[in-house]
Formats: sequence, structure tokens, C-alpha cells
Amino acid sequence: MIRKAVIPAAGFGTRFLPATKAQPKEMLPIIDTPTIQYVVQEAIDSGIDDILIVSGKGKRAIEDHFDRNHELEMELEGKADEAMYNEMLRISDMANIHYIRQKELRGLADAIYHARLHTADEPFAVLLGDTIVDSVIPVTQQLIDIHEQFGRTVIGVEIVPKDKVSRYGIVGGEQVSDSILNVTELVEKPSTEESPSNLAIAGRYILTPEIYKSIEQTEVGKNDEMQLTDALRLLLRRESIASYTIEGKRYDIGNKLDYLKTTVEFALRRKEFAEPFARFLQETLQARGVDQAITGKGTAQTIEEEHER
Ligand code: UTP
Repeated sequence: MIRKAVIPAAGFGTRFLPATKAQPKEMLPIIDTPTIQYVVQEAIDSGIDDILIVSGKGKRAIEDHFDRNHELEMELEGKADEAMYNEMLRISDMANIHYIRQKELRGLADAIYHARLHTADEPFAVLLGDTIVDSVIPVTQQLIDIHEQFGRTVIGVEIVPKDKVSRYGIVGGEQVSDSILNVTELVEKPSTEESPSNLAIAGRYILTPEIYKSIEQTEVGKNDEMQLTDALRLLLRRESIASYTIEGKRYDIGNKLDYLKTTVEFALRRKEFAEPFARFLQETLQARGVDQAITGKGTAQTIEEEHER
């Protein structure tokens, strides 16, 4: 049974500067809800209520978000927006959330190592704090089901285009079923030719406590960080690992373009925005000329050109 989740959220977020200079990227909102709230909700919807967030310098806003704010509650209480008052209370009472600080940002594997005393000898879920997965069955629940079937480490993966494999950690192995592999290879950002498959690690894992021994042996790798993919490759020597192709759509809000796409898709699905926002997008594209907008050479000025004027 998986009772605990670890959410690494200490990273610098350099790909999203300057927005992340003084605020956590995990707090970037998709419309009105911080990314990490979706992540915490996924853990809860998967039956987990004990959550450890790996936090760090400049990440206080995450703690404040999941805490009570009595002044705000007093302001909202008894006012017309009772739903928002209740929502504020719900957020501060979502789960049993614990925090630990990663003082030096030495990579994802090191962030997870900080959870060893909290998770002790139980298997646990890992959900990256900057990744949302939209799915019918919460994706962590999907991985828990596979873990319960096989009793081992499970890596959530998604199918990516062959020419994009070099952006991801990729798994390879023997097919157990349509969606499950017995993993034999793990490669971080391979070239298209070297890649063992087009199954990319999707920011969701069920890990056994054995991972901590592997992390202890993991050397600093790409970007001068301790990569979880490297630790998992060492884990393969001790125990078998399964990968599971998740059913759902993954959104990595850590890069600007994917963040924009996420915002647009979520807005088009929200009842109050769907119609006016779709109309706005259509009008905007028409005004710029769709083809010119796609090539970035529309008749209208780009924001940079407008700024220069
Ligand atoms: P990323 O590699 O996407 O985060 O890690 P980053 O390092 O903040 O990104 P860039 O490249 O500088 O833009 C995925 C998740 O793991 C956390 C991050 O906060 C993010 O939620 N993380 C990463 C840690 O908690 N500690 C680390 O040392 C690195």
C-alpha cells in the first residue's frame, strides 16, 4: 500500500526566469490555481494523504499557500463569495503536508534523498512539483495499481515523437504488455539514433526504499546534478523496474511554451472562459492572419517590436 508521496519543488526554475527569480515556479498559476495544488490534488485523489514537499530557498510561498490565512478568511467570511471562503479552508486542509529543505540544489535524486527519514522503509510515490497530468484516473493511482500488481519500482512514461527523445529521460526494455515494460535501459537525453525507445519518463514514479542506496552511489551527472535517471540505472542492478505508459496528458509547466499551451487548454475547458476565450483566440489569429501568425511574421507587431517603438 502506498501511503506517502514526495513532491520535489526546490529547483531554481532557471528556464522560467525572470518570473522565478523571487517566486517558486511550482506556484505559477494555471489560470487561478497554482501548479503544485494540482499536483497535491492528484496525490490525494490517488488515496495518499501524507505528503512531503521538498522545498528550498525562495519557496516559502508554497508553505503559505497550504497554510491557514486567518485575515483573508475573515475578509471573505460572510461575504457574497462563500464558495471562495470554503475553497480557502479546503486548500489549507487538503492533506497532511510536511516540508523539508534541500539546502543545496544538487539535483532531483538528491531532492528525493531528503525524504529517506520520512518514508523510511515504505515504497512511496514521487510527483514532480512542476508537472501536471490531466487524466480520468489520477496518474499516481494508475502507477499504484501497477506497483500492487508487480511489487516493484514503477516509472510512469509517455510516448513522445522520435525526433524529440533528446529532451527526455528514455526507458527501454522487454514488452510485458501493451503499456508495461520490464525496464533494462535508462538513458538521459539520448540522440534519436541511440535512443532505446520513444518512451519518456513522465515525472511520476513509485519508488521502493532501495532507491536511497542507489542515490548514495550516484555520481554527479548531466548539468552537474545528481540525476534520478542515473540512480534508477543503479537500482536496476539490485531489483527489477517496470515502466507503465500513463493514460493522460502531461503538462510540463517548467518551460515557457508548454506553460502557455497548458494555460490555453485549461482555459478552453473552463465553463466560464471556454466561449469568450475561444472567440478571442479566433479573432486574434484572424486579425494577425493565421499563416503569418504561425511564421511569426504577422502584419501586427511582435511584442518585442512594440516595445522598441
Ligand atoms: P527540473 O529540473 O525541471 O527543475 O526538476 P529545475 O532545476 O528547477 O529546472 P530549470 O532547468 O532550472 O528550469 C523537476 C522538479 O524537481 C525539483 C524542481 O523544483 C521541479 O519541481 N528539483 C529539481 C528539486 O527539488 N531539487 C533539485 O535539485 C532539482
